Amino acid sequence: MRVRKAVLPAAGFGTRFLPATKAIPKEMMPLVDRPIIQYAVEEAAASGIDQIIIVIASGRSAIEDHFDSNASLERWLEDRGDIEMLRTIRRISEFGTVAFVHQREQLGLGHAVLMAKDLVGEEPFAVLLSDDVMLNPGGEPVTKQLIDAHLAHRGSVVAVQRVDRREVSRYGILEPLREEGRVVEIRNLVEKPSVDDAPSDLAVLGRYVLTPKIFDVLEQTNRGAGGEIQLTDAIRGLIREQPVFGYQFEGIRHDAGTRLGWLKANVAVALESDDADEFRSYVRGLDLRD
Ligand code: G1P
Repeated sequence: MRVRKAVLPAAGFGTRFLPATKAIPKEMMPLVDRPIIQYAVEEAAASGIDQIIIVIASGRSAIEDHFDSNASLERWLEDRGDIEMLRTIRRISEFGTVAFVHQREQLGLGHAVLMAKDLVGEEPFAVLLSDDVMLNPGGEPVTKQLIDAHLAHRGSVVAVQRVDRREVSRYGILEPLREEGRVVEIRNLVEKPSVDDAPSDLAVLGRYVLTPKIFDVLEQTNRGAGGEIQLTDAIRGLIREQPVFGYQFEGIRHDAGTRLGWLKANVAVALESDDADEFRSYVRGLDLRD
């Protein structure tokens, strides 16, 4: 079945980015000239998805406003004859359907995904955590790679990459059953294990293609690591009923939810932007000695 829908959880407090995120969600922090969440929406659209479901916290309208049309801004750009920017602005509100659901209590990532149950219905869907910025210039978008793996293997698929052993406690870590090329069949998953307890160095990064069965499991999932309802725990439950695969994707992931990761993501995006040549020569000219 075609994957048409994507869920983008965006209801966290963004505490790692305070005070920047005091009044705006972290997903609205810009990367060069677009808010972080727009990269995920564009990745989903480039992967064939035409229905986006964004899970937002109550009382935070900046994300809704961003994907809505803005008639007075459009009129102003039109009057000035800035047709290129007018097109750019219009394109944002023309990504197929963008729907919003509210997560009234911040009970964790699994809970956020569960909020989208009724809008997703009985079909496989993607989940994109937008602060994991996935760049694969010239290649397939990471979500597309996962969708293709899902269609080939007929099960849920999570994006994985090897991480430094010392950093396993920041991620969901998988225990492989068998590995073939980029595909790893998963025996088990652990959310944020200690270095000693980690079953491997294969970390789940923020892209998933899940079967709708996950919602039944999520409804039964208790609070886990950090006192939150974890998506990882629900996927572990799903493995008991259906095969779940890890896909070692092609591309570079930046954790734009941390200050350093956000800085690196900005540099990476800038080096692919219209200003790339000038930016490259600016960086080359910096005195980077200690
Ligand atoms: C979430 C998931 C975790 C995954 C990570 C990837 O954690 O719970 O399994 O490895 O995203 O970025 P968070 O970063 O929200 O704590």
